[in-house]
Amino acid sequence: MINLRVSAESLEHAIEAAMNVRTNAYAPYSKFRVGAALVDADGGIHVGCNVENASYGLTNCAERAAVAAATAAGRRDIVLCVVVTDTPVAASPCGACRQVLSECNPAMDVLCTTPGRSDAWHRLDDLLPYAFGPDSL
Ligand code: THU
Repeated sequence: MINLRVSAESLEHAIEAAMNVRTNAYAPYSKFRVGAALVDADGGIHVGCNVENASYGLTNCAERAAVAAATAAGRRDIVLCVVVTDTPVAASPCGACRQVLSECNPAMDVLCTTPGRSDAWHRLDDLLPYAFGPDSL
């Protein structure tokens, strides 16, 4: 069972924000649009979408874009990441995004969902066990 550390109101705002930002994804190659919303410890919401490039390897994922937005806003105390994909079953963050999210808070909650609300709740440290982090150095 997930220990939800955000209010029901923050959760609904974050889901809506992730759904909305997904529509701004720049994904002409994969056509796979992803929206992410991070909630900080004060309920602030920081969003990101995937941004692809004709040089495919330069693509940036939605979750890492959201981490950049939160960091630029001065917030690294992320308690929840909401990821929205337009798939029948919710897709979970790629390995690179798990690693980058983990540096904010390895114990954050992760809600993977879809426009039809196929919800899958996780804890990041279940998605990325034995993470390499600041204490590994
Ligand atoms: N993508 C994300 O934005 N987040 C993930 O966690 C997995 C993949 C994006 C990258 C690319 O633009 C598209 O989804 C297909 O891989």
